[in-house]
Parts: sequence; C-alpha cells; structure tokens
Amino acid sequence: MTFKYQQLATHVTGEIQNQTLAAGEPLPALRKFALQHQVSLATATKTYEWLQSQGLIVAKAQSGFYVKGHSSIKPLSQPRLKSVSIKHDPSDVIFEILQNALTFDRVGLSSGYLDESLRPSLELQRSLKRTAKIANLTANSYGHTQGEVKLRNAIVDIMRQRQCSINTEQIIVTNGCLEAINLVLGQVSEVGDTVAIFTPCYSGLLTALKHAKRQVLEIPCGPEGPDMVHVAELFSQGKFTTLLFSAIASNPIGFSLPRKTKKQLALLAKQYQTYIIEDDTFGSLDYRQGTTEPAYAYDHAGYIVYCSSFSKDLAPNMRLGWIASKPLMPGLMRHKVALNITCNMPCQLAMADYLFSESYSAHIRKLTTTLQQQVLKLQTCVLQHFPAGTRVSQPQGGFFLWVELPHQIKTMEIYNLAVQENICFMPGHTFSMSGQYEHCLRLSINQIWHSDLEQAVCRLGEITCALFDGI
Ligand SMILES: Cc1ncc(COP(=O)(O)O)c(C=O)c1O
Repeated sequence: MTFKYQQLATHVTGEIQNQTLAAGEPLPALRKFALQHQVSLATATKTYEWLQSQGLIVAKAQSGFYVKGHSSIKPLSQPRLKSVSIKHDPSDVIFEILQNALTFDRVGLSSGYLDESLRPSLELQRSLKRTAKIANLTANSYGHTQGEVKLRNAIVDIMRQRQCSINTEQIIVTNGCLEAINLVLGQVSEVGDTVAIFTPCYSGLLTALKHAKRQVLEIPCGPEGPDMVHVAELFSQGKFTTLLFSAIASNPIGFSLPRKTKKQLALLAKQYQTYIIEDDTFGSLDYRQGTTEPAYAYDHAGYIVYCSSFSKDLAPNMRLGWIASKPLMPGLMRHKVALNITCNMPCQLAMADYLFSESYSAHIRKLTTTLQQQVLKLQTCVLQHFPAGTRVSQPQGGFFLWVELPHQIKTMEIYNLAVQENICFMPGHTFSMSGQYEHCLRLSINQIWHSDLEQAVCRLGEITCALFDGI
C-alpha cells in the first residue's frame, strides 16, 4: 500500500514535470488542495511537506506555496515525418563508447542500469542464501527449458497485475531481455528481412539487429512517441516484416504510449498479420508505479511477443529475463536449447524467492517515486548549465534524460572532451543507424542526486557552451 500523501505527491510531481504546473506558479492553499482531492488537512500538509523536502516547491511567508524549478523547459522538437531505411552502420562506435562507459564513467551519467544503492541487493542476497540450502533434484540440475516453474509463477503474477492474461506455459525464462529479443527475432524474421524500430532507439537493439543481419527501418519519434497515421501507413504498405518497440518508459526518450496507441498497435499487428516484438525492459519503471499495462495486454491474436527482464528494476547481474507468447513457444524452446539449454538455476530460484517475499511491489513503488524526483533534478540542472535553446525530454518513466542541443553542436565533440575528465554520457548518434541525433545526448540518473553529479553536469554544460561560443 502507498500512503495517500505519496500518491498525491507523485501526481503533483508529474504535473511539475510535464509543466501542467510551471515554475513559479502558486499551488492551491492547503485547505483548497485538501478539498480538491478529498483528503484531510493533515494529508494535504504532509504532501506539501514532502514536495518541499524534495526541493520541488517552496513556501513563501504569508503568501503560500510555489513551484520551484526551471521556467524555460522546451519540449523536444517534433520529428521529421519520414521513416528512414538504413545504409550507415555505427556499431563499432557504439561498442567503443560502451567500453568507455564501463571504464571511465566517474559519476554514472552514461549508465544503463541502476546504481546498487537503489537496488534491493541485500534482500536478493538473502534469497540466494535461503535457496542455496535447497539441495533437491531441481536445484541441482539444468532445470526445465522454459525456466523454473516458481519463477514463471511469479512472472505470471507480475504480468497479471499489469492486465496481461497469461499462464506459466506461455513463458520462457531467458538470460536477460537481449537474449529474449534475439530468440524472438529468430522466430519471426529471417536474414535480410526489414525490422522497423522507433528511433531514437537503445543502441543494444541496433547492434542486435546488425548482428542478426536484419535491415532496419527507423520510425522517428517525438516527445510522445511516433505519429500513428504514419505507422499505420507503413503497416499497410508492408514496409517491414516485424516491428520492435517499447510502449513504456522507452529508452532513451522515456515516453509511455497512451492506451489508445497500444490498442491500435495490437489491432494493426492482427490486421496485417505482422509480428510485433514488445521490449518492456523498463515496463515496471513507469512513474505510475509499475501498474501501466504493456501493448501485449491488448493482443488477442498472438501477434505481439512480449520480452522483458529484471535488469532495470532489480538485478542486471543476475541476467534474468523472459518471453511471453502463446503461439511461438515450441520454436522458442528448441532455439533456447540449441543456444544455451536453460538459465542459471540458483539465480532463478533466488529471484522467485524474492518476488514472492512481497518486497517487490514495495521496492517498485519507492523506486519509481525516487527516480521521478532524480530525473527532475537532472532536468533542472541541465537547463541551468546548458546553452539557451537546449530542449529536454519529459520522461514518464525510467532514469534517462534525452537532451537536444541547438543544432550546430555535435555531441561527439563534447564527448571526446568530457571523456578526458572521466565524464561519460551516450552521444545521440548511437541511438540511430542513420546518423541522426548528432546534436542530442542521453544522460542517466541511476542514483540519488549528489554534488559530484551536479558538478559533472555543470562541467558538461561548460564544455558545451565553450563549443557553442566557438561556432
Ligand atoms: C530498451 C532496452 N532493451 C533491452 C535491454 C537489455 O536488457 P537486459 O540487460 O535484460 O538484456 C536494455 C538494456 O539497457 C534496454 O535499455
């Protein structure tokens, strides 16, 4: 259970973030707020106190409460309408940048996973110890090809809470989401086929598509996702054999698609008998607290294949993910056996133990609220230190901020200078194969905001402004 004041605080934070409440704007007086939301004065007071403690609002003597923050957030620019088929391939650059991120990133601004301080590492360790004591036949074997049934049961529970009707026979456990996606790609497409993706797109998927020798069709996205008229046209023209996308807290922009769009995508897949691979790796990190449904919830014909993992909300190091699909299970099982038989058994048992401990939902509730606050702090800091005209995303989940600079600056130039000071981020062009987004970058905020992070963002801003002045 979340306390009422926490629910209200999350709601108000969302309004500040999407600028329904602008910086400097007054908030309703406490009594009015309590009346509006039908809560007690004590709850309203607690909500405001919490927002104040997070630095989101300020109290002015004899005047009331006001929204803090930056007044000039510009939303990301609208995308160009045309999709792009790919010729250019920057995969080696991506590889090099990922290696740098692992080696040089002093503060974690390029990180693709949560800092340990925000993960339930102790609880997972306890589960590992507890389940290590189970010395039965299952625990000491390869286990079932589809994955340990206790873990599949726990996954069924999680998915049902997100409105997906599913059973354990429709799930296969994988080594993370990337293996899940690679397995599904092998089932629904062939070498040379065109896979459509929403861009900007997580670089790991671009690399996976390159290695699988698939053609790529990039469908550009704006702050709220793709233009669905354009997407419907591409479906009807048979421009791709498979669509791969995330509906919730997409990496890097952070948009979550509206329900109407998710329903429409499920209908289009059915109408044109085209497979969709839904990458829901960030699905539990929607700021509406892990309850938002994936597009898979609206698939009644079996054309959406669902892939996810515990890498972003719990434990990237356990390498546990899963696929949910009814029609593809026989082929997927054969492919999985051919690849690596099963997943690590001790980790599966420990994960199942943790998921049944009731800590999971409490962790997600706390985590999503925390992440929303941290993203807001990062957003404010970027807008303070980067050149005028900089645009930032308004993520609805996850821990990334997509930054769009005034067009003249290439973020790779900033990157080359920043790396010398051990500050890393992901330059924008690594999120596309067509050389787009050279003036963009992705920053991560995978931990509680602190002064080193602030200094690093400030330094990035200085480097950017200096380059900007030199143009
Ligand atoms: C959108 C997206 N999909 C998939 C993955 C890979 O997930 P996993 O680590 O579970 O393989 C990532 C990792 O960063 C990601 O951002």
